[in-house]
Amino acid sequence: MNVIEIQNLTHRFPDGSLGLDHIDLTIRAGSFVLITGENGSGKTTLLKHLNGLLFPTAGSVIIDGKGISEDPLHARQAVGLVFQNPDTQIVGETVSEDVAFGPENLCLDRNEIEKRTHDVLTILKLLPLASQRPHLLSGGEKRRLAIAGVLAMKPKVLALDEPFSSLDYPGTKQVLKQILSLHESGHTIVMTSHDIEKIAAHAERVVVMKKGKVALDGPPDQVFPDLERFGVRPPCALRWGKPLESWLI
Ligand SMILES: Nc1ncnc2c1ncn2[C@@H]1O[C@H](COP(=O)(O)OP(=O)(O)O)[C@@H](O)[C@H]1O
Ligand SMILES: [Mg+2]
Repeated sequence: MNVIEIQNLTHRFPDGSLGLDHIDLTIRAGSFVLITGENGSGKTTLLKHLNGLLFPTAGSVIIDGKGISEDPLHARQAVGLVFQNPDTQIVGETVSEDVAFGPENLCLDRNEIEKRTHDVLTILKLLPLASQRPHLLSGGEKRRLAIAGVLAMKPKVLALDEPFSSLDYPGTKQVLKQILSLHESGHTIVMTSHDIEKIAAHAERVVVMKKGKVALDGPPDQVFPDLERFGVRPPCALRWGKPLESWLI
């Protein structure tokens, strides 16, 4: 079953420039898709179409069976979007208040809000920090908090925009581990990254964007040898003729 069906999606910004140019993309429920491409190729713009932060100028985006323009609330619930800069996503005074904010907006009852908050803090290993002020967290912890806040809304799809940007080695490993375990537990993962080294060993499918178009789309072993042409550095292992290794090893 396809959880995302994008047909002929074109996005024109208010200044007239073209952000997305006739995109066709279907994403199977439970899959792990990496969207890559050089800066300005349209990765973030595409993600914003998955949960109604932007609407198509032309074409259609269908999330879990429903058109985004007809039912944006359904899309917002089905696709949790984790922004590139986690600071922009912090709304609570404490870590647990921050996570509770989403479920509160869904008008769930108190018990359900507390249960969801506790559950996602446990999953993201943030329980010991529950009463900490979010702004005091490390980069990796902040990113996990942003993922926790989105997860508390119980989305089917997690869309992560450059989830490793500005993280150090331990932060990257923490976040990578959580993303992989969310995928294992059944979530569809769509993530963007202009630097694919950290995720190369794990993606099942790689979509390469260029100037608002999908330039390549296929399994990693087919796509990786061609990356250089599209302004993305191929994984080091490939250059050395070695098998790809996870950053978690
Ligand atoms: N609000 C906007 N108005 C005009 N152009 C924009 C706007 N937002 C993004 N763009 C342009 O759209 C292109 C794609 O941007 P973006 O999706 O952020 O790329 P990426 O995430 O791949 O780096 C870039 O050229 C960017 O400058
Ligand atoms: Mg971007």
